[in-house]
Amino acid sequence: MHPMALFPAFVAPLQSGLVPDGGRDEIFRAIFVVFLVLGTIVGVVVIGYMLYNGYKFRDRGDRDGEDGIDRPELGELPEGGGGGRKLALSLLLSALIVITLITWTYFALVDVETRAVENDDTLNIQVEGYQFGWEFIYPNGNTSDTLRVPEDRTVRLTVTSRDVFHNFGIPAFKMKTDALPGQTTDTWFQPNETGTYQAQCFELCGAGHSAMNANVSVMEPEAYEQWYANTTSDDAASGNATGTTAATAGNATTANNGTTPA
Ligand code: CUA
Repeated sequence: MHPMALFPAFVAPLQSGLVPDGGRDEIFRAIFVVFLVLGTIVGVVVIGYMLYNGYKFRDRGDRDGEDGIDRPELGELPEGGGGGRKLALSLLLSALIVITLITWTYFALVDVETRAVENDDTLNIQVEGYQFGWEFIYPNGNTSDTLRVPEDRTVRLTVTSRDVFHNFGIPAFKMKTDALPGQTTDTWFQPNETGTYQAQCFELCGAGHSAMNANVSVMEPEAYEQWYANTTSDDAASGNATGTTAATAGNATTANNGTTPA
């Protein structure tokens, strides 16, 4: 059963904007900001109240209580006023804050894990790691050593390895997942700014590990469609006709069928 199905009451507020609708980087940033702001507020209240009491009950050399305050002597436990109301109130507030944070974060992370699975409009790309590089396989069979994706679309990756354990990640999109031989792992990201980003391997996999990188090119959707419809490999994509090998030229004739992404 989908975890969300257990808590229908939480789904509506989450979908109405409590969790950002953008890429996973935006969701993680929201979690970070919420924790930072609440942590700062709690810190200011706790430290402020501590300093206030430190000042209020400071030693003014009048232990006998001219000001009417009954200060504890050394070794004597202070008696709390108000019959424990402050204690109960602070416990209640802490519990509320902690439970709210845990619940909200949990469902935000569930949303991160399940977003691509529930989205029918994803661009599905297979990623294969090998010693030492990455190959990206598109729905029409195109392969590329550069991950080209359109802006503002959810990209769903199915990641595996041809040899040893690797780990595929794109730090700019807060995305990272295992690449294991004989298994596939699913993940997603949603780029919202065109540009070139870096994908790299995050699992020590041999002497070439630190150079196991790939470029991620986030393109304007029209430019992406054009590239996708007209190419079968990076050689063809860059218009490098003179450098086209016999093998890629052979692929081009069979796969250049003008299809659009599934
Ligand atoms: Cu592949 Cu490290």
